[in-house]
Amino acid sequence: VVDLTDDLRTVYWRGSSIEVLDQSKLPSKVSYIKLKSYEDAAEAIKTMRVRGAPLIGVVAAFALALTALQSRATSVNQLVEELRKVHVVLRSTRPTGRNLFWALDRVLGRAERAENAGELRNAVLAEALKIAEEDVETNLALAKHGSSLIENGDVILTHCNTGLGTVEHGTAIGVIKTSFRQGKKIEVIATETRPQLQGARLTTFELKREGIPFRLITDGMVGFVMAKGMVNKVLVGADRVLKDGTVINKIGTYTIAVLAKKHSIPFYVAAPTSTIDLESNVEDVAIEFRDQNEVLTVKGQRIACEGTEALNPAFDVTPQELVTAIVMETGIAHPPFDVSLRKLVKVSGKSQFQP
Ligand code: MRU
Repeated sequence: VVDLTDDLRTVYWRGSSIEVLDQSKLPSKVSYIKLKSYEDAAEAIKTMRVRGAPLIGVVAAFALALTALQSRATSVNQLVEELRKVHVVLRSTRPTGRNLFWALDRVLGRAERAENAGELRNAVLAEALKIAEEDVETNLALAKHGSSLIENGDVILTHCNTGLGTVEHGTAIGVIKTSFRQGKKIEVIATETRPQLQGARLTTFELKREGIPFRLITDGMVGFVMAKGMVNKVLVGADRVLKDGTVINKIGTYTIAVLAKKHSIPFYVAAPTSTIDLESNVEDVAIEFRDQNEVLTVKGQRIACEGTEALNPAFDVTPQELVTAIVMETGIAHPPFDVSLRKLVKVSGKSQFQP
C-alpha cells in the first residue's frame, strides 16, 4: 500500500503567520520558523530558508494574504493599493522563477475583484490556501504521468532539489518517489549543486527518508558517470519553461543537458503548468546573480585567496533541442514544444498572467 501522505510538508498557514521548514538548517536539523509579516517572508525567500520555484510562489501568496489580514485599511481601494506595494517587494526577491509572479498575480487579481474589504480579506486568504493545496495535487498528478517514463533498473541523475522546493511530494523527485512507491527498482545519482548544495543537503535527505538507493556526486563528475554508462535517464525540475521548451533551471542544468545529448541519455524536465511561461522570450528572463561570497566560501569557510572575484549566476538556460520531454500535471509534452506545451497548459485551465 502506497502511503502518499508520508511527504514532509514545507509550509503551513497558521492563522496569523506562515510556518515554513527552514531549509538552511537541513540536513542536520528539521526545524520550522514562523514568518509573521510580508517582510519576514521576503527575507526568508531572499536568504533561501524557503526555496524552489513552486514553494516560493506559495509563500509569497500567503505573504500577500497576511498583508491583507494585518492591514487597517477599510476600503477595497486602500487594501489593493497596499497589496500592490507589497507585490512589488515580493516579486523582487527572486527574479527568475515563474511561479512567484504567477502566484502573486493570482492573489492580487482576486483582491482586485473584491466588492468590499471584508470579502477581499477572505478571498485572498482562500486563494492563497487554494494555491498551496493545488500544488500538492499538481505534484501527485505530475508524478503519476512522469512515472510512465521510469522503468525497473533505471539509474536517474537529478540536479538541485525538487522536493522541498514544493509544498509536498516534489516535481522531478516526486516522479522518482512515485515510481519507487510503485515498486520499481531504481537508483538515483544526485549532484551536489554548488554553491548552495541543495543536492547534497536536501536531495540526499529526501532520498534517504524515502529509502531510495542513491549516490552523491560533485557537479564536475556528471561527464564521468555518463561516459561510464552509470546513468540512463536525467530528470530535473525547472524554475521557468518558455513556450518553445527552453528550460531555465538551477545553474549546472545546461551542462548536464549537453552531456546527456552527447551520451544519448534522455533529458526529462518535470514542472507544473504554473512554471510554464507562454509569454516571455528568453531575453526577457532575468537570471538571478547572487552574492559572490556563496562561491568564495563553503559553509562559511573561505576557499579562495583574498581578492578573488567570483561569478554567481543562480540559473542557466537549456535550449529546447536538448530536452526530450517535459512532464506536467496535465500530461507529458514532447517536441515540438510550441504546440504540446500550449495544449497542456490550456487543459490545466490555469491562467497565464503577464509577469
Ligand atoms: O535556487 P533554488 O534552490 O530556489 O532553485 C531551485 C531549482 O532550481 C529547482 O530545480 C526548481 O525550482 C524546481 S523545485 C520544484
